[in-house]
Amino acid sequence: MVPSREEAERLLCEGEALHPGPWGNHSRVAARCAERIARACGESADTAYVCGLLHDIGRRFGTRHLGHVVDGYRYMLSLGYDEVARACLTHSFTTMHLSDYVGKNDLTPQEQEILEEAMQGLELTDMDRLIQLCDCLAGADGVMDMEARMADVERRYGYYPEEKREVNRRNRAYFEKRMGRDVYEVVCGGEDTL
Ligand SMILES: [Fe+2]
Repeated sequence: MVPSREEAERLLCEGEALHPGPWGNHSRVAARCAERIARACGESADTAYVCGLLHDIGRRFGTRHLGHVVDGYRYMLSLGYDEVARACLTHSFTTMHLSDYVGKNDLTPQEQEILEEAMQGLELTDMDRLIQLCDCLAGADGVMDMEARMADVERRYGYYPEEKREVNRRNRAYFEKRMGRDVYEVVCGGEDTL
């Protein structure tokens, strides 16, 4: 189940009020990218939009690293939005290894258990891959060059796994093949910025 677009927008505004930061606009850009790519692929644009909008909703609980993944996952599950909960979880694990997360592991042992259990046997869907791609395209001020965004993350955290870089490129190539178009042409839709 997923929330309506209006409910998702309300949840994001509420989360931003609790913990303001660039993550709010980053989420809006990711949502708009996701809906455009989904539409171009003949997938549900509404589902893509709300999953993109709420993939970082765990940030409403404060500044955490890997913790925001588990916070968002549990919060969305508590509201019954399991498809969004998936996006909260999988957006950070492009290679499906828990070590894949770029940043600090600040999970409590209990949260670590929840994460491991949730990830066990999980197979990535196209929606998971779409949100991963859009996370990688979305800056807080608009669409970013994917390579520049990965370089920016690397600069901020000091590292960026090569395998993750490769998966991001593969995700881009996969959706471009499905759409038959360049991803930037689709997400920018003729506008300079989103
Ligand atoms: Fe994100």
